[in-house]
Amino acid sequence: MSTKILTVFGTRPEAIKMAPLLKALGRQDGIESLVCVTAQHREMLDQVLDIFGIQPDIDLNIMQAGQGLPYITSTVIGELTKVIQELRPDRILVHGDTTTTMAASLAAFYAGVPVGHVEAGLRTGNIKSPWPEELNRRITGTIADLHFAPTTVSRDNLLREGVKPEAIEVTGNTVIDALLLAAGEIENSAAIRSRLSAALPFLADAKQRGQRIVLATGHRRENLDGGLTAVFTALARLAERPDVTVVVPVHLNPIVRNEAQSILGDNAGVHLIAPQDYLAFVHLMAQSDLIITDSGGVQEEAPSLGKPVLVTRDTTERPEAIEAGTVKLVGCDEEEIVAQASTLLDDPASYDRMSTATNPYGDGRASDRIVSRLLQ
Ligand code: UD1
Ligand code: UDP
Repeated sequence: MSTKILTVFGTRPEAIKMAPLLKALGRQDGIESLVCVTAQHREMLDQVLDIFGIQPDIDLNIMQAGQGLPYITSTVIGELTKVIQELRPDRILVHGDTTTTMAASLAAFYAGVPVGHVEAGLRTGNIKSPWPEELNRRITGTIADLHFAPTTVSRDNLLREGVKPEAIEVTGNTVIDALLLAAGEIENSAAIRSRLSAALPFLADAKQRGQRIVLATGHRRENLDGGLTAVFTALARLAERPDVTVVVPVHLNPIVRNEAQSILGDNAGVHLIAPQDYLAFVHLMAQSDLIITDSGGVQEEAPSLGKPVLVTRDTTERPEAIEAGTVKLVGCDEEEIVAQASTLLDDPASYDRMSTATNPYGDGRASDRIVSRLLQ
């Protein structure tokens, strides 16, 4: 008899990080793998499903413009409860710290289905930062009976909270599995490379002019009230440099889009582009010289590509990359962002110190470790 595993996710980063695990579950005898997407994100989720060829068994299709946290939480709990009653899974797998993750864990708990938490144990220690993700991750960790911790730092956080060692598996982060899959596809396919070059022609133009590429993303809820304004203003200042081109794939959150358009829309040195599919974004990271972001996933990916990252947050639940020297916290402080970016652009020694390609988050085999543990 096979074990029925229902994997639940809803946003872009969860989908990217669950995609390689779904591939590993799909080829494993003894596991029946089912997928339910909440579609907390719609277009940005579908981009990932398309690239990785994932066909969800259930799509809750919940996204609404400007959705609030109570809406996401209550809808996911209500709708997923019906799915659990119908499918009767032996286990539910969730990822990370989104509101989909937390609400799916609660629905599983109410239905008496055990929860495996992928990317478990990351902590800032500050319940308001990132908001609401730190609480989402803690609630999920309290419910889960199996914790897939990406690093020993995250394992130790769980141990300190009283989780039993035998309930934790240190696996590496599945984002590195996804990154290596994508990088391999780009490397092995001339057709993909020419599609990417044609879609992003300004990269080659900038390189021809001898410019450096600064890649930036931003979306965190705690940065929507002023923080992003400072970040985008700093990017506008950096784009004044003749040796810099700024590229911003703009998150579909309407607040982010409006802010980006009003501060950067008329700036000739800035390319505001739509959210990129994963292959295109990996290509963009690989072509860039410096990354400025509040994204969790990008902090984990960029060190593999040897790209320095300035993180526009005050806290991070990912201290490993700071320790490794490839990531620096700069907050949403305009002056600090401009100063730190300028140092990296002007001082080759500072740049070299932050651009060593060592990645503390994994070796690309996290998914296999998770599947092995699920089979035990
Ligand atoms: C969510 C997660 C955050 C994660 C981020 C990744 C929560 C509370 N937040 O934040 O942890 O880091 O996703 O990007 O779970 N929208 C679209 N199309 C899309 C996606 C979003 O139009 O494909 C718009 C909608 O108007 C939506 C809004 O963006 O209401 C916000 O989306 P939401 O998922 O609520 O929050 P994020 O800030 O994206
Ligand atoms: N990403 C992408 N296209 C983009 C921007 C980001 O595929 O245009 C990927 C990125 O490589 C990373 C993930 O999306 O794997 C990060 O998503 P996001 O920043 O939305 O969420 P977070 O990581 O902060 O939770």
